[in-house]
Amino acid sequence: MPSPSPDSVVQTSLHGPVLVVRIDNPPVNALGQAVRAGLLAAVERAQGDDAVRAVLLVGAGKAFIAGADIREFGKPPQPPSLPEVLHRMEQLDKPVIAAIHGPALGGGLEVAMAAHYRLALPGAKLGLPEVNLGLLPGAGGTQRAPRLMGVVAAAELMLSGKHLSAKAAQAAGLVDKLAEEGDPTAAGLAYAEELLAQGAGARRTGELPIPDAATAPAALDQLALETARKSRGLFSPARIIECVRAALELPFEQGLKRERELFMECLNSPQRAGLVHAFFAERETAKIPEARAAQPRPFARLAIIGGGTMGAGITVSALDAGLAVTMIERDAESIARGQANVEKVYDGLIAKGRMKPEAKAATLARYRASTSYDDIAEVDLVIEAVFEDIDVKKAVFRELDRVCKSGCVLATNTSYLDIDAIAAVTQRPQDVIGLHFFSPANIMKLLEIVVAAKTAPDVVATAFELARRMKKVPVRAGVCDGFIGNRILAVYREAANHVLEDGASPYEIDAAVRGFGYPMGPFQVSDLAGGDIGWATRKRKAATRDPKARYVEIADRIAERGWFGQKTGRGWYLYPQGARTGQEDPEVLAIVDEERQKKGITPRSFTHEDIMRRYMAAMVNEGARVLEEGIALRPLDIDVTFLFGYGFPRWRGGPMKWADIQGLPKVLADIREFAQEDPQFWQPAPLLEKLVAEGRDFESLNRPA
Ligand code: 3HC
Ligand code: NAI
Repeated sequence: MPSPSPDSVVQTSLHGPVLVVRIDNPPVNALGQAVRAGLLAAVERAQGDDAVRAVLLVGAGKAFIAGADIREFGKPPQPPSLPEVLHRMEQLDKPVIAAIHGPALGGGLEVAMAAHYRLALPGAKLGLPEVNLGLLPGAGGTQRAPRLMGVVAAAELMLSGKHLSAKAAQAAGLVDKLAEEGDPTAAGLAYAEELLAQGAGARRTGELPIPDAATAPAALDQLALETARKSRGLFSPARIIECVRAALELPFEQGLKRERELFMECLNSPQRAGLVHAFFAERETAKIPEARAAQPRPFARLAIIGGGTMGAGITVSALDAGLAVTMIERDAESIARGQANVEKVYDGLIAKGRMKPEAKAATLARYRASTSYDDIAEVDLVIEAVFEDIDVKKAVFRELDRVCKSGCVLATNTSYLDIDAIAAVTQRPQDVIGLHFFSPANIMKLLEIVVAAKTAPDVVATAFELARRMKKVPVRAGVCDGFIGNRILAVYREAANHVLEDGASPYEIDAAVRGFGYPMGPFQVSDLAGGDIGWATRKRKAATRDPKARYVEIADRIAERGWFGQKTGRGWYLYPQGARTGQEDPEVLAIVDEERQKKGITPRSFTHEDIMRRYMAAMVNEGARVLEEGIALRPLDIDVTFLFGYGFPRWRGGPMKWADIQGLPKVLADIREFAQEDPQFWQPAPLLEKLVAEGRDFESLNRPA
């Protein structure tokens, strides 16, 4: 796409003595090169034109300015730089006013802070969310925000990435005045006139004193300690602290210099690459062929079949999206349990003060339960969440086919089962789709939308619309055992089992995985989810398992003892008296040893790096297979699946992005090395070999040719 011209994205017009500078760079007025050049030209015009007595900055469309143009990161910088433009703007000797409506984020708020006065309209959202992209405010924000709102409040804004409302921003000192609802230009002009009438001049933020200078040093030390503890492997938070400390200790100009150095360190870090990838990937997954080809079917009334763990969570998600839900359960007792599961969520919110009891009652007015399928004849969409048993599911779908009106979307929340086989028991396979929610379904953002062989495009589009309404992150997947996420999980979990049997303890493996950035290791996750679930799956699959493939029995030995994890007080770890954090269990280590001896394995030692090389190589290799089979559309769909469903550290961008950052030749070399020990398990995926041979990376598959 050719870059726009500066005067098309930044328009200037004189309204009496006020030069209105309108940033018009859809969709969110990001500060790309043309906007920076346009702003600089506007500053020069204001400086040179005696008719201009004040400058008013406004954004066109729905935003003031959403920040730097994130697409430019990682490319060679194009002058003028934002810090330079803002320095020139701040130095103007005529008052510069920012009228903020909608988002003023990152560089957008930095523009506003370099202005001399700030007016905010009711829908304004102000924030410095750079930390979410592995960055820090790099256009003077770390030096100006402390002068407007105090060092500690500024640091907290930058570390949290939170957005402030107009009112909160005024209370914090970021905004001088609030306007009523209306047009930012009209409100801004009125404020400009008011300031001119008062004889207000340039009020440069860089020249203001820091309001909490006396108390800040001690508070900042405390914040630095907390940040080191909470930011788990993140690179930019400590540097944000360093920047605000510079604001406190150095003259403004030197503080800006220090900010620039630290900003460049962040910009060049792999974490920035991972987080920026995650930002765009999250927005790309909804861009699928069916969304372009078909319109969603309208829906307002849902049926959820089964009110267990998943059914209840999905019901809450649907109710929260404003939909009406009828839950079908087997008998009165199950109905009562299902309803209790739903109410528990709302009661929890009420107890935390996050919901009013009246709101719970209003929400539940859209909920009913029944044991009769005849009560759901008129619903628009059904989500089945009964036991994970193909015969039970088929029986349910036969009933649905019998009662549901024509055009009703029939979805299954199965984790592994063959959706084509489920669709085949109905007379309308085109209406059947997988909607794989994650537990707890009312909290987890990921929704795998599993498109079966005969699913109609408008059913797929409807599922994506449902995800949007439920505020989920949707990923399109194809039918296979486990779809995208659970299929890949099965393989790297197996790699972890191999490492366990070969010599690492479950505790070492969990520590290595946490060290990589996951909140928990795989054995901790198993204890949390319940070891019985994986055990049941393994038993189900035992008959079809390749007898020549390596099979590690240790998990079965643990499960056979009834050690299912937290809910039974022990699993891989011990949980005395209902403890949530597990303790290492010498008996588990003895079982592991015994199993090794049975197979004649002499344990060897693994460093955390050895463990993670295997864990990640298995993940990436299976990811490549999922891609070549068309189960995932693009590598970014796999990345988003793992970021939102499996706790993959966001700053690494997802497994496929991680592989790109490592370099695919290195990952392939690891797989080939491991294949020397176990050639069956470690067969390189042909797609991975092909990409390496062609000198390409996964990113090249994200971009359409
Ligand atoms: N740069 C480039 N593109 C951006 C962008 C940005 N800063 N912010 C949003 N976009 C794009 C999105 O990718 C999306 O593109 P698409 O339509 O092609 O998918 C489009 O704008 C609309 O974005 P959303 O779908 O997110 O729209 P919403 O209305 O839901 O949200 C928003 C709007 C709140 C502005 C949200 O997009 C957002 O949070 N943006 C990022 C804000 C941010 O992080 N700013 C800091 C940037 S770093 C910086 O400024 C460094 C500085 O200190 C030097
Ligand atoms: P669960 O055992 O908690 O709930 C199942 C519910 O279905 C029970 O309340 C049961 O009474 C009801 N039920 C069984 N047969 C029924 C029928 N014929 N008609 C109406 N209701 C019936 O199970 P859970 O964990 O909620 O799982 C449900 C489905 O969701 C399974 O397919 C599972 O694989 C899938 N899933 C589970 C996840 C999890 O973490 N628990 C995550 C993602 C998907």
